[in-house]
Amino acid sequence: MRVLLTGGAGYIGSHTLLKLLQEQNEVLVLDNFSNSSMESLRRVKQLANRDFDFRNGDICNSTLMNDTFNAFKPDAVIHFAGLKAVGESNDKPLDYYTHNVTGSVELLRCMRRHGCKQIVFSSSATVYGEADYLPYDEQHPLRPTNPYGRTKYFVEEIIKDWTASWSEASAVLLRYFNPVGAHDSGRIGEDPLSTPNNLVPFISQVAIGRLDKLNVFGSDYDTRDGTGERDYIHVDDLARAHLSAVHFASKNKACEAINVGTGRGATVLEMVKAFERASGRPIPLNMAARRNGDVAKSIADVSKANRLLDWEAIHNIDDMCRSTWNWQSLNPLGYK
Ligand code: NAD
Ligand code: UD1
Repeated sequence: MRVLLTGGAGYIGSHTLLKLLQEQNEVLVLDNFSNSSMESLRRVKQLANRDFDFRNGDICNSTLMNDTFNAFKPDAVIHFAGLKAVGESNDKPLDYYTHNVTGSVELLRCMRRHGCKQIVFSSSATVYGEADYLPYDEQHPLRPTNPYGRTKYFVEEIIKDWTASWSEASAVLLRYFNPVGAHDSGRIGEDPLSTPNNLVPFISQVAIGRLDKLNVFGSDYDTRDGTGERDYIHVDDLARAHLSAVHFASKNKACEAINVGTGRGATVLEMVKAFERASGRPIPLNMAARRNGDVAKSIADVSKANRLLDWEAIHNIDDMCRSTWNWQSLNPLGYK
């Protein structure tokens, strides 16, 4: 299959790229490197021992997008490209609407123009907002609470309308829960450009000595130990879900939203313990106030992914922390 990966140099994109190459797909990566580096692509090429096409550019650039579709003629698109920092999205909402929403509209227009019928979109559990019930199933009301989350929600709605307007089209909206971990080789992983906002990259930088201590945001939640509980998913399992989703989209003619998680939750303190086991290093803690906008618990109902994609997560939090530590200790400064 010929697959176009927008944002394929990024964290989740690079792990998915490697799997697509290992399964003998033809791939073109389009990325503007706003949050990634060429080094991840170089390493994927070495790991796969295969080459792939690449374009440095922005999904909002319609001339570039048309040229790319003309030259590569993809059968399917996996659409990772976008901005993803919740805090930044409050300060710069229009950047988020431009890159995430306008960019996606441009992409869908191009796909229609060039007869490319299948898309897998990187959505997020953040579209659910405060839980009416848990685990979240795909019918749970959608009430995102920040501009980033709203861009994901709007793009989901746009893709639903695009699919409805074209009987040949097929889309899978993958709602990721909390992706963590790295490839077993330790050659590719998550490389935040500034101080991490997310838990596991933060713990990992404390363990390696780049940061002093972890601030635990809230210890009075209604959870086992009072700290926030999340459904962490290994990036390797997530990458596999994309291959299953592309396969599913090639046989389907509709738009399906599908949760991608493990169905199990871990608290902040449980993740800290797992990371201490994996790294053999203590993680100093500071019990801090709740972070604005956080929910107590977020857990996926994964039965739809099991049923439609014939997929399930196989890695547990120890695997996630071990692979994160392997990547972090082999690359203390990330790709730099
Ligand atoms: P990432 O930042 O590592 O990857 C995104 C890639 O897109 C980067 O390489 C960046 O340079 C590129 N990019 C951004 N804007 C672009 C544009 N306008 N044109 C071309 N390239 C552009 O992020 P990630 O963690 O790999 O996430 C991938 C997708 O999954 C994003 O859409 C993100 O919102 C979504 N998502 C991520 C998480 C998570 O925790 N990592 C959770 C839910 C959803
Ligand atoms: C965050 C985003 C969410 C996004 C997701 C991607 C916010 C409010 N939400 O979700 O939109 O889809 O990342 O993975 O930013 N924690 C600490 N100390 C830290 C960092 C985090 O205690 O330094 C806690 C948080 O309070 C939370 C848990 O760790 O309980 C996980 O946090 P994080 O990794 O940021 O993910 P989410 O909050 O689920």
